[in-house]
Amino acid sequence: MKYGRRYAKAFAPATVSNVGPGFDIFGFPIVGLGDYVEAFVTEGRGVTIREIKGSAADLPLEAGKNTAGKAAITLLNAVEAAFGVEIVLHKNMPIGSGLGSSAAGAVAASLAVNHLLERPLTKAELLEHALEGESVSSGSTKHGDNVFPSLLGGFTIVSHIEPPRHISVPCPDNLFCAVIHPHIQIATSYARSILPKEIGISVAVRQAANASSLIAGLFLNDDQHIRNSLMDFFAEPYRAKLIPGYEEMKGAALAAGALGAGISGSGPSVFALCRGKKRAEAAANAMKDALITCGAAGDIFVSAINRDGAQIVAAE
Ligand code: HSE
Repeated sequence: MKYGRRYAKAFAPATVSNVGPGFDIFGFPIVGLGDYVEAFVTEGRGVTIREIKGSAADLPLEAGKNTAGKAAITLLNAVEAAFGVEIVLHKNMPIGSGLGSSAAGAVAASLAVNHLLERPLTKAELLEHALEGESVSSGSTKHGDNVFPSLLGGFTIVSHIEPPRHISVPCPDNLFCAVIHPHIQIATSYARSILPKEIGISVAVRQAANASSLIAGLFLNDDQHIRNSLMDFFAEPYRAKLIPGYEEMKGAALAAGALGAGISGSGPSVFALCRGKKRAEAAANAMKDALITCGAAGDIFVSAINRDGAQIVAAE
């Protein structure tokens, strides 16, 4: 395929994934935090990373080992592009944060490169390329609970990975998210390695009950269902100890009126879902105070559910 434009810049938002009982299945993007990728057409084929700017300058510059570069390679190969691409990655979010940093790079790259094509693919068609990109960093089986929501926007159920299939869940308008990012890094590969390979049937039943009840709660706009089901029996019992002050932060968010709270992705970020922005601000501040009391520090964010997902922000 030929190119249709010579330049495009895309933004991909940070995501909260797992969202309690939806291990590897549920996720939603937040507003304001995320990565940018600029893509420039080159006459020679292949993908080069010209520069990585921002918070993670030590990420690999070799395109095949970088989530953004790998996503671009996979997409260009799939459409048999008659051109190459040079990319600049603007890394605005911390890596190893539990906020989908690897996914954001891959999603922004796939969207920016797609926009250069003479006949761009749909967002749904881009999922497999963004997933392929993200997989270079995770060191594990592909999981789409960051890539899908970052690309598509809204609360997303990853129903299937290969081929990608999803369901978008309508979210109440006044549902806000408080996030705290404690200043430590947790590699997703490590956080996955400490999980048991198998679980008992009683745990599986409780998790399935909560996952289905949470989705019902969102569809029905019912606080009681959301409150009763926003919990995780798969990963939290093993990962909580990796996050200093986790129980204190979670308890503080609930005491401040959050509907529920848990680990964002593989941590260390912690999220709380709340009715209304004021309550989310109170939950974020309460988590920050709890973390400080435990002798650590972190950044807080308060956000609506980002319904737009990744976007093209400039093109020529
Ligand atoms: N679902 C993933 C996990 C999210 O919890 O390991 C991290 O990318």
